[in-house]
Amino acid sequence: MQNIARSLLLACAAALVPVLASAADVKENWVKHCQKCHAADGSGSTPVGKKLKVLNYTLPEVQAAMTDEEIVKITRDGAKDEAGKTTMPAYADKLTEEEIQAMIGLIRSFQKS
Ligand code: HEC
Repeated sequence: MQNIARSLLLACAAALVPVLASAADVKENWVKHCQKCHAADGSGSTPVGKKLKVLNYTLPEVQAAMTDEEIVKITRDGAKDEAGKTTMPAYADKLTEEEIQAMIGLIRSFQKS
């Protein structure tokens, strides 16, 4: 009986590992690649973020105006201003497609209330 309980516990732990690993990865990628401009909490309240006037992802109206497709596209391709100067770098060659897709969930989770 104890053996069964132990196997069940191990099976559950094994099933959880990939979920936890991918959750940590997207957060890690945010800290490494995005936080400088968009802030740890997605509010954009960093010196660079303020200068570039990035949006505040904690606000419901900002979230509502942004589609999942836009999140993926801008993360993949980056953004330029009218003069053609890069304002946000492209991540197509730094993040995998899966990692880019995972940003949707993370960015959505920044919304407060
Ligand atoms: C050098 C600063 C900088 C970094 C680093 C950066 N961004 Fe941005 N990001 C910007 C700027 C500036 C804009 C606004 C661009 C525009 O709309 O023309 C933007 C726009 C966006 C948008 C579109 C919605 C909006 O705010 O207009 C998303 C989504 C986004 N960034 C996600 C990310 C993700 C995910 C990362 C990391 C993988 C990242 N950004 C890294 C500066 C940055």
